[in-house]
Amino acid sequence: MARTKEDPEWEIGFFESVLKRAPRYIDVIAILGGLYTKTGRLDGGLRMERRMVRLCPRDATAHYNLACLLALTDRRAGAMKTLRHAIELGYIDHDWRENDPDLATLHDYPEFQDMINLLKVILSSRPFIMPAVLDYDPLILAPRSFPPEFTAIQHEILALKKERNAVILAHNYQIESIQQVADYVGDSLGLSYQAQAAEADVILFCGVHFMAETAKIVNPGRTVLLPDMDAGCSLSDSCPADRLAAYKTAHPEVYVVAYINCSAGVKALADVICTSGNANKIVERVPADREILFVPDQNLGQWVSQQTGRPMKLWPGSCYAHVQFTTAAIEKIRLQFPDAPVVAHPECVQAVRDLADEVCSTELMVKFARESPAERIIVVTESGMLHRLQKDVPHKTFIAGPTNTCACNDCRFMKMNTIEKVRDALKTLSSAIEMAADVRTAALAPIQRMLDWSKL
Ligand code: 13P
Ligand code: SF4
Repeated sequence: MARTKEDPEWEIGFFESVLKRAPRYIDVIAILGGLYTKTGRLDGGLRMERRMVRLCPRDATAHYNLACLLALTDRRAGAMKTLRHAIELGYIDHDWRENDPDLATLHDYPEFQDMINLLKVILSSRPFIMPAVLDYDPLILAPRSFPPEFTAIQHEILALKKERNAVILAHNYQIESIQQVADYVGDSLGLSYQAQAAEADVILFCGVHFMAETAKIVNPGRTVLLPDMDAGCSLSDSCPADRLAAYKTAHPEVYVVAYINCSAGVKALADVICTSGNANKIVERVPADREILFVPDQNLGQWVSQQTGRPMKLWPGSCYAHVQFTTAAIEKIRLQFPDAPVVAHPECVQAVRDLADEVCSTELMVKFARESPAERIIVVTESGMLHRLQKDVPHKTFIAGPTNTCACNDCRFMKMNTIEKVRDALKTLSSAIEMAADVRTAALAPIQRMLDWSKL
C-alpha cells in the first residue's frame, strides 16, 4: 500500500523523525502519544505521556493523560497517584467522568470514589460551560517598602560565587530569588554583551539552554554553567538545524536572519543573529537585494517585517508561552485597569500586539515603564519580568498579562532553574555547556555581526 499522510504508520514515522531532532517539541510529543495509543501501542503512548509530564510538571491535562495510560497498561497504583496529582493541579475538565473507559481498571479502589466526589464538589462550584476567559484575580505587584531579605541559601550562593570566581547572569524571566543574587539581569541582547565581556572563570547562566550556549560561543575560555540542562525552549526546538540546512540547499540565495532563540547549529547556518531588542535595526542592514528568511519565530518576524516594511519569508515556529495570550484576556484586564497601558513582547500573536500600546523586548519594557506617565502598567510577557520591573521602577504597579486560563504566564523552561539548582551548580561546577569547535566558530560569526551592527 502506498504511504499517505492519512496512513497512521506514515504519520508515526514522520513524527518520530521530527522528535528525534527536536526531543522537547511538546506538540509533537502529544501527537505521537495519541497516534501510538490509537494504534494500540500503549507502551509507546505511555512513554510519550511520561515525557510530557517531565517537560510540563504543572500541566494537569498531561497528568490526566498519563494516569489514563498507566491505568490502561495495568499500572494501577501509579495511575491512582497520578490522577490525584492531576486533580491537585486543577484538572477539572468535564471529560473527566467516572465513566471514562480508560480509567475502568481503577473503579475498585476506594479512593477512586473519593476522587470522583472531590471532582463533583469542584465542578458544582463552577458553571458547566467554562467561559472563554476564566474568572481569576489579577496578579498585581504593587510598590513595596523593602525587597525580601536574603535567605540562607542566597547567602551561600554569594559565598560560592566568590570562591569559584563566578559571575551570575540572569534573564528577566527568572524567579525573584535568582534575580536577586545575579550580577546582571537583562534581556538576551544585554546578556550576550555581558557574557562576552565577562572576565570571571565561571559564568553561571540563569536562563535557558540557547542563552548559555550563546555565552559559551562568545566567550569560549570560560566555564559556562546552566543550572538545569533540560531548560530548553519550544521556539528554539521548532527549527532543527538539519531542516534549515535542507532549506538552504534548496534556496542557496536566501539570507538567513536568525532570532537568538535557536540552537548553536542553527546559528552556525545563519548570516546574522538578532534579538527582540535589535531585530528591526539588524533587518534594516541586510542588503536590499537579498531575500530574507527569518527563523524561527513567525510572530517576531511578522512584527519586524511590518515595522521595517521589508518582506521576509517566515519559519513557522512560535513560543508556546507567548501565543497563549489572547485578545479576550487582554481586553478583559484592560476593562479592569482602564488607566494602564499595555506593553507586549513581539513573540505574541499579531491580534494581541495590535491591542498593545507598546511592543518591545523585555529590556525595553523597563525603559517604557520608567518613561510612561502611567502609574500602572499591564505587562504581556512571562511573569518573571514583573520582578525586574518592580525592582527598577519601584514606585509603579505592574499587572501581569493574563491568558484565558491563568492570571499570569510562566515559561516552564525558564522556571526549571531553582535557587537550589543555582547553588548546586556553583558547588559542583556542573552542568557545563560544551560544543564542537567547528559549530562554535561558525556560530560566532553571525553573533559577532549582530553585536557589531547593534552598536552602530
Ligand atoms: P528578550 O530578549 O526580549 O528578553 O526575550 C527572550 C525570550 O526568550 C522571550 O521569550
Ligand atoms: Fe523559549 Fe518562549 Fe520560554 Fe522564551 S518564553 S525561553 S521563547 S519557550
